Amino acid sequence: MRTTVEREERENPLKTGLRLDRSAPPCTVVIFGASGDLTRRKLIPALFNLFEQDLLASGFSVLGSSRSRMDHQKFRQEMRASMEEYGNGGIDDNVWRSFAEGLFYEPSDPSDPASYDRLLKRLQEIDQERGTSENRLFYLSTPPSVYADIISRIGEKKLGHSQTGWTRIVVEKPFGRDYASARELNQLLQNVFSEEQIYRIDHYLGKETVQNILALRFANGIFEPIWNRRYINHIQITAAESIGVEDRGGYYEQAGALRDMIQNHLFQLFTLVAMEPPVSLDAESVRDEKTKVLRAVRPLSSDRVHEHAVRGQYADGSVGGRRVRAYRSEDRVDPASRTETFAALKLYADNWRWAEVPFFLRSGKRLPRRVSEIAIQFRRAPHLIFTESDPYDANTLVLRIQPDEGISLKFRAKMPGQSFHVRPVHMDFQYGASFGKRSADAYERLLLDAMLGDPTLFARSDMVEISWKILMPVLEAWENSDEEIPFYPAGSWGPREADELIEFPGRRWRMP
Ligand SMILES: NC(=O)c1ccc[n+]([C@@H]2O[C@H](COP(=O)([O-])OP(=O)(O)OC[C@H]3O[C@@H](n4cnc5c(N)ncnc54)[C@H](OP(=O)(O)O)[C@@H]3O)[C@@H](O)[C@H]2O)c1
Repeated sequence: MRTTVEREERENPLKTGLRLDRSAPPCTVVIFGASGDLTRRKLIPALFNLFEQDLLASGFSVLGSSRSRMDHQKFRQEMRASMEEYGNGGIDDNVWRSFAEGLFYEPSDPSDPASYDRLLKRLQEIDQERGTSENRLFYLSTPPSVYADIISRIGEKKLGHSQTGWTRIVVEKPFGRDYASARELNQLLQNVFSEEQIYRIDHYLGKETVQNILALRFANGIFEPIWNRRYINHIQITAAESIGVEDRGGYYEQAGALRDMIQNHLFQLFTLVAMEPPVSLDAESVRDEKTKVLRAVRPLSSDRVHEHAVRGQYADGSVGGRRVRAYRSEDRVDPASRTETFAALKLYADNWRWAEVPFFLRSGKRLPRRVSEIAIQFRRAPHLIFTESDPYDANTLVLRIQPDEGISLKFRAKMPGQSFHVRPVHMDFQYGASFGKRSADAYERLLLDAMLGDPTLFARSDMVEISWKILMPVLEAWENSDEEIPFYPAGSWGPREADELIEFPGRRWRMP
């Protein structure tokens, strides 16, 4: 049975902004790091799903490359096995065969110039055989330490020069590890590509619920008038994980929560909530407004970091009824590590809309549950005539990013009965139930956008640099501090210091 939305889309595609007219032109996606985890778990399943939905042209091709030795056949087998493991299930053999005909593999060593001659030759063959017109999307899916080699060689060997088509490059996170390295990577990329060709991916922006923040704010008339300092007390942005570092201890030791989650994902959510209405939905209008928010952030001072930033590391504890070990006991983690697995920030955007409204951002591992949400807490009614006046029960609009995607509004209602008791109730919108169809995976959306040349949901060079600049005082203060890192038991909502960061009459962390 078709849902109302599907019927509407079919009958009136323009009205619903239908994606059916969004099929990508014939092109080759060149994946560096094609033997890796991201390719298997995300990139190939996303590309196959797009192919299955007829959103890719018939000549669509993938040229996988990494140091591992494989031929086309072996690559196709491996990718099929990944689909079995990570796909949505129920793979149609005919569709897979047709997709797999476009999968190719060429071994390469990022530092070896001769590898790129072979890659170029292979690309030219694919263009001829499959009509991909020199349209090329390079995807950096290797560890960041080899990005520089790959970008420079693409430039030297002119892989990025296309006579008849377009070339673009997608760069995976992390984009730098501080302001200087992000700037250096930007300069390296801009030596070879123009800014319009560079797609810095942040998969959070591909999530439907994140895009829905724009819809909620700018497709409805009732929210904008109250979306400001007059009505909003503060905003909490949370990205909590219940898992620990799993097998990524080696990577995480170099990153930490501030770099891994806050500089990118949480800052993106912050800008979407705080931005001014763009004049249109085109890429530059949206990205200009987001960048303005970052420019308005009140600088954090390195000598008073504790007033606006808190870090923590999980000790042993219990999550979901299961005992778990401390971060320092995880594999490939220094037993004396001071890497933060929890970070919280208090930010102010110094502009007319948000003056003196604090934004609290927090992210951590081994918290009680996996949940990402934005909670907009409104001011309390100016004069309460009811006796029950719990100061924490102010109206709250919660945008749930994952899981259980949706929006809820908390307000007070009279309880049934003769007396006049009020208590908080929730009005709830659930994304899945209302639209009756699966949300596209973030990588599907973003890969398709990159093939279509739409950078709206990708970070621009200035945004990345400013976001690092904002965080530098905190990163430096934490790196130079001799103090022991605060600990929190696994399964709790973070260290005690995080409570002190937010606490104020009527203000405390939510426990979603
Ligand atoms: N996995 C995820 O879920 C995820 C999520 C967000 C972002 N990312 C980012 O996406 C990128 C790829 O992630 P991944 O998990 O797929 O990484 P990965 O498995 O560690 O590496 C991908 C591939 O790169 C090649 N490689 C590794 N070290 C290399 C080196 N020193 N020199 C040259 N090639 C090397 C390896 O292939 P060969 O040994 O065959 O050359 C490997 O299969 C990373 O930047 C990561 O931060 C990943």
